Amino acid sequence: MLKGNKVGLRARHEDDIPVLLTELYDDVVNSSRAEAGPWRPIVPGSKDPRLVVDDKEQGRVAFSVVELGGGTLIGSANLWGIDNHNRGAHIGLGLLPSARGKGYGTDVVSVLCHYGFIVRGLRRLQIETLADNTAMLRSAERNGFVREGVLRSSAWVMGEFLDEVLLGLLVQEWKPGSKD
Ligand SMILES: CC(C)(COP(=O)(O)OP(=O)(O)OC[C@H]1O[C@@H](n2cnc3c(N)ncnc32)[C@H](O)[C@@H]1OP(=O)(O)O)[C@@H](O)C(=O)NCCC(=O)NCCS
Repeated sequence: MLKGNKVGLRARHEDDIPVLLTELYDDVVNSSRAEAGPWRPIVPGSKDPRLVVDDKEQGRVAFSVVELGGGTLIGSANLWGIDNHNRGAHIGLGLLPSARGKGYGTDVVSVLCHYGFIVRGLRRLQIETLADNTAMLRSAERNGFVREGVLRSSAWVMGEFLDEVLLGLLVQEWKPGSKD
């Protein structure tokens, strides 16, 4: 397990699936905001990659996020679009509603940076998020990510086009453990 100050990132367990499905992916508004495609219901037993991890898939590593103290499941996190030629990847995460706003997201980004830069030897990590997602923007910036651009009207979300912000962090800029 990868450990931060508050969270652990471990493999997906079977028991995690119903919780993530009900509390995260069945939420139409949150899913529409967090994902690139339209929300669709996930049928029980589905092999949807957000729930069931294919560990042969080289371009994506998915984790379940747990509280370090008690081991309670609090969300999902992943490194995706892993490109071993250009040595970059994207970061994605989603916390259960009850776990938001407590500093966990900032810590998850920190642990994913450690995984990307140290464990995987990558040199650039990237995050795309809606321009009004202050919690995601701050979680990234706290870890040293810089805003590199705005993708104007790039996301169709619940009846309107919204801007997305692209943030990047290079390994030489990264300060492990720093949350400034
Ligand atoms: C985005 C998300 C991962 C952030 O994690 P979090 O644990 O809620 O964020 P933190 O508690 O670490 O807070 C990070 C910063 O955002 C601020 N923040 C948190 N929630 C906020 C809110 N609802 N509105 C405004 N600011 C907020 C915190 O004050 C903190 O700011 P600071 O660093 O300046 O003190 C989490 O809220 C989440 O899962 N949201 C739903 C799914 C989602 O949007 N995923 C990202 C898709 S790209």
